[in-house]
Amino acid sequence: METLDKSTVQILINKAFEMLNFSYVPYSRYTVGAALLAKNGTVYTGCNIENASFGVTNCAERTALFKAVSEGVKEFKAIAIVGGPQKKVAGICAPCGICRQALREFCDMDFTFILAKSKTEYELYSMKDILPQSFKPDGEIGATQRA
Ligand code: THU
Repeated sequence: METLDKSTVQILINKAFEMLNFSYVPYSRYTVGAALLAKNGTVYTGCNIENASFGVTNCAERTALFKAVSEGVKEFKAIAIVGGPQKKVAGICAPCGICRQALREFCDMDFTFILAKSKTEYELYSMKDILPQSFKPDGEIGATQRA
């Protein structure tokens, strides 16, 4: 697990909660907010953005990740995630499999997931906990690695 002080965790949770206000969720009404901490100290926030063609929906975690990567930032320490129906967060919102894999592309196995169930209660998981035996070959993917 990445070492994170409590004040940093609190900042990330607060930002993730703020993002619930921007979720575009006319179909599920399930709001998700995320705050991704880059190794350079910058925080990238994201919300879920749904679409009438449901499969086009983008999760909050990937919104934050893609904002960062599209600005050239590719090294991360932690992400805070909160979610619940219509901004009512009652339990943890674990990231979906696609978001775990999307984050894994850029994050080490000690990357930290902060899953908050309120502004003060949260659970910490590492990438190792949440996506063990992940697909991330070293170097270029090619015939030799694929064989
Ligand atoms: N959602 C996220 O934003 N992140 C996740 O990791 C799980 C699911 C969103 C997608 C959709 O807008 C809503 O939650 C219900 O699935």
